[in-house]
Amino acid sequence: MLSKVISFALNGLEGVPVEVETDINKGLVSYDLVGLPDAAVKESKERVRSAVKNSAMRFPVTKITVNLAPADIKKEGSHYDLPIAVSILKASDQLPFNTDGTVFLGELALDGALRAVTGILPMLISAKAKGFSRFIVPAANANEASFIEGAEVYALKSLKEVAELISGERVFSPVAHRSYDSVRRERKYDCDLSFVKGQKVAKRALEIAVAGGHNILLVGPPGTGKTMLARCIPTIMPDMTFEEALEVTKIHSVAGELSEEGIVTLRPFRTPHHTATTVSLCGGGGSRVRPGEISKAHGGLLFLDELPEYSRSALEALRQPLEDRKITITRAGGTATFPADFMLCASMNPCPCGNYGSAELVCTCTPAQIKRYRSKISGPLLDRIDLQVEVDSVKYDDLISDRPEEGSAAVKARVEAARAIQRERFAGDGIRTNANMGERQLKKYCALSPECEAVLRRAFESLHLSARARSRIIKVARTIADLDYSADIGTRHILEAASYRSFDGDDL
Ligand SMILES: Nc1ncnc2c1ncn2[C@@H]1O[C@H](COP(=O)(O)OP(=O)(O)OP(=O)(O)O)[C@@H](O)[C@H]1O
Ligand SMILES: [Mg+2]
Ligand SMILES: [Zn+2]
Repeated sequence: MLSKVISFALNGLEGVPVEVETDINKGLVSYDLVGLPDAAVKESKERVRSAVKNSAMRFPVTKITVNLAPADIKKEGSHYDLPIAVSILKASDQLPFNTDGTVFLGELALDGALRAVTGILPMLISAKAKGFSRFIVPAANANEASFIEGAEVYALKSLKEVAELISGERVFSPVAHRSYDSVRRERKYDCDLSFVKGQKVAKRALEIAVAGGHNILLVGPPGTGKTMLARCIPTIMPDMTFEEALEVTKIHSVAGELSEEGIVTLRPFRTPHHTATTVSLCGGGGSRVRPGEISKAHGGLLFLDELPEYSRSALEALRQPLEDRKITITRAGGTATFPADFMLCASMNPCPCGNYGSAELVCTCTPAQIKRYRSKISGPLLDRIDLQVEVDSVKYDDLISDRPEEGSAAVKARVEAARAIQRERFAGDGIRTNANMGERQLKKYCALSPECEAVLRRAFESLHLSARARSRIIKVARTIADLDYSADIGTRHILEAASYRSFDGDDL
């Protein structure tokens, strides 16, 4: 007898239907599973066999062939256990009921329990877009599945429960739909800009960076608050909309890093260690493609503390995603694309001893040492960092002062206002922020007066800037003008934007 059950495969974040067909024939006792990679087949076969037996059902002792179609789709993950088990039970006439249109996803434990799997959210979203609306998933994935409106999702604990649902022996209620608003937590962060004393220039630069989605580099001696400032960035980022939250959650679901809550409500803040490999940064991996840190930072912040400590190859690998805002991972059997639209914040000391350029401290490095240290960061990478800010040591009086510093909430309000202007401006352009402007938008929205051109020319020539740096200055100036509620870019906006390229002009 032949049976067919539907499951899903993931390519990147895109779900593709997979048919699990089982054929049971009289003949020599055998159990063949085709369409899965070798290692996975072996493990799945054993799990399914034990789970069926331990669920008080019969594992057929005859010739069994299970096929996962289409064959040309890469099938990864353990979530095919459940559809395989159901398909075998149907083919052996133990579940003679209609399951057309139902999608089965779940890993089986040897005792028949259903175990949580990764990637439920992107699979459900794709499946729903393809017309499927009835799903059976592991109970542990219920929260993640609850945000999809109009889907009938059963989150069950075991193969036995699945059989009871299919046969109608027991009635289960589908997962109740939850709205984003009901779970959106009060944003709670450990840090706040009000904790950072002084550092006016750096704080202003952070505000501009977040307002326009620009990348930022903090350069300064040790212990001046660079790491502290970076930790404050998420506290001034605009709240995520439901669409953004789903986008981010999909990635974290595939990465297997979703919290109990089932949805990501706070913007990501990723801080990969400087020993991180290119694969852990950009994604990839062995049998299963995993999104890397840059994709897990999608919609939020990627913080590279002590930038020169990262391997050259890892930093070079960032260049393409910084431009494209997505990453395509190529490996045996195909490619997968993950979004990687993040804000980059990097920090570094200005020289090996850390004191170069400080108003108070003395640098003991030779020019050659400084040059070697800085050359670890390539020009092309530096070029993609719109704001380079010097963070100098804080004065003792500032540190102990009781004068209240402006808190994150006030800065965030200004950021939101600047973002609203950008949303309106780019309504028909398919982008969200000034940083994402292409040549066409630069022309359309950033016309410069002759005075502005003259100021920009002077900066270009004295700082020896690249063409890319020039257009980045204009984009930052656009953001500064937006924070100023100014329809046009003025010379003061250009001047301030150019002042954040000091690292470029630092002739060493
Ligand atoms: N501007 C500041 N206001 C208040 N506290 C500060 C400030 N700068 C530094 N600190 C204190 O010093 C600690 C170290 O700061 P932080 O780690 O941010 O320095 P850093 O610039 O990242 O140094 P490094 O270059 O060594 O990484 C902070 O945890 C905080 O207690
Ligand atoms: Mg630090
Ligand atoms: Zn030095």
